[in-house]
Amino acid sequence: MHDVDEDQILVGNGSDELIYLLAWAYLSDGGRALCADPAYRMDEITTHLAGATLLKVPLRNWAHDLERMSEVETDLCYVVNPHNPTGTARTGAEISEFAKSAKAKLVVVDEAYIDFVDDPDATTAIPLAREGRVAVLRTLSKAYGLAGLRVGYIVASAEIIKVLQKIRAPFSVGTLAQAGALAALSDVTHRQRIREHAIQTRQIVHDLFSSAGYSVVPSQANFVLVVAPEDELLERLNDHGISARPGSTLGLPGTVRVSVPSEDGLALLRSALGT
Ligand SMILES: Cc1ncc(COP(=O)(O)O)c(C=O)c1O
Repeated sequence: MHDVDEDQILVGNGSDELIYLLAWAYLSDGGRALCADPAYRMDEITTHLAGATLLKVPLRNWAHDLERMSEVETDLCYVVNPHNPTGTARTGAEISEFAKSAKAKLVVVDEAYIDFVDDPDATTAIPLAREGRVAVLRTLSKAYGLAGLRVGYIVASAEIIKVLQKIRAPFSVGTLAQAGALAALSDVTHRQRIREHAIQTRQIVHDLFSSAGYSVVPSQANFVLVVAPEDELLERLNDHGISARPGSTLGLPGTVRVSVPSEDGLALLRSALGT
């Protein structure tokens, strides 16, 4: 799939296990990590667990401020692309430029939501991970729907993979999860269907909220971020049986993150928004 050697991939018990391993391997000697503010929570938690210092650069226009982030000296820098919780994506060229200019020793690009991208410029960083100091995280928890089975992987240089392999527990991903992952990876039609559903439906969700008067962040992921008074919007959605994530729990108060729904969920959303 990625045109890399076997010794450049490590499979983990969800990509979260690999995020733990990265922190343990590269941050535990009083290291420094850098991420966006807000970031994916596990990047923050594992940095703290490793006893390292966490530096944060606020988002600019809801996206990673790579220009400012590139100036910070750190051991590890996390870029979530597309980002969670905003759904914004930086382009492959921007990530490539960042990887060249960043003062971080290791750049980790978390591509958990890359399967939902339709911006042709927002390409994967995997070609950068074949050599050098870029590592790319992928998961089967999103587009493949296997969150409960726990399978993710990291693509990096053989040296980085060796380091992570040394400290991981000998038994990680179960046989059932491995079988599920292989089946999912070979089912290209299913992946395509999920991807198309997410791309089409997030646009519909975006338009429904816009028509109802809300400001919505254009998304490349399988959720959209709506700018709104949280309690008011959550109550409005709740009244119609819709559960959404308050932005304050994701580091973005004054927003609500809405996942791409099923057809039935979309009907509920239409009634909630009166559109
Ligand atoms: C950006 C990001 N990375 C990684 C993960 C974790 O994925 P996994 O289920 O593979 O541990 C998530 C899950 O929400 C995520 O949002």
